[in-house]
Amino acid sequence: MRIYSAPDYYHASRIAANIISAQVIMKPDCVLGLATGSSPIGAYEQLVRWYEKGDIDFSEVTTVNLDEYRGLEESNDQSYRYFMNEHLFDHINIDKSRTHIPSGTEPDAEKACADYDSVIQKCGGVDLQLLGIGHNGHIGFNEPGVAFEKGTHIVSLSENTRQANARFFDNDMQKVPAYAITMGIKNVMQAKKILLIACGEGKEEIIKQAFTGPITPELPASVLQLHNDVTIVGDRMALSGLMAAADR
Ligand code: F6R
Repeated sequence: MRIYSAPDYYHASRIAANIISAQVIMKPDCVLGLATGSSPIGAYEQLVRWYEKGDIDFSEVTTVNLDEYRGLEESNDQSYRYFMNEHLFDHINIDKSRTHIPSGTEPDAEKACADYDSVIQKCGGVDLQLLGIGHNGHIGFNEPGVAFEKGTHIVSLSENTRQANARFFDNDMQKVPAYAITMGIKNVMQAKKILLIACGEGKEEIIKQAFTGPITPELPASVLQLHNDVTIVGDRMALSGLMAAADR
């Protein structure tokens, strides 16, 4: 496990973007597993800047996103498809037909999950999976208690996660979707490399527990201790607990 502690979000984002661009340069037809949320936005901004300068070419890249809300159309500005277009895909030379996000609108939920697992398989697996971490230790929408062996599945979102996301829905809990479709821990663990962006207020304790505490489904990110190629990039604040534990 490699840990890069940056002074602030901007510098953490630059390090994360460097790691992603190194992946694309080394393997132009790579498969990137992508995430939404506030943590990766700075890295996406940086990648767009480097693309505009001609430093990075996404023309052969395939992407698979971690998750999507159930019930939101792609055109809804809170859907993760909308987020990805807005923050990354609309600004780089990626072939949109090679950008994949689980379907939030397929009426047959089982089919949506099976289809997504086969998309990942047909792509040849994920080379580099980008992750954020929730305040309760979730990765993707794998909430505490999820079985590690699950592939893509439907989840009922915890109150904690819905409240954390309410800010994107006019702070109106009624508008926050109750279900999502997410890659499972099994999909995440099958990625060749993992890059976790650990930024955001109030995450220092959960990040410390995830990487120094017991490996348990009650803290989904703790499973990453079992992956052999994990890089954590974070701001000093978010990594403070982990760094203090590592120094001991
Ligand atoms: C998003 C996702 C979530 C977020 C997590 C952290 O695709 O899978 O697990 O990474 O909720 O969110 P932020 O970055 O907003 O703190």
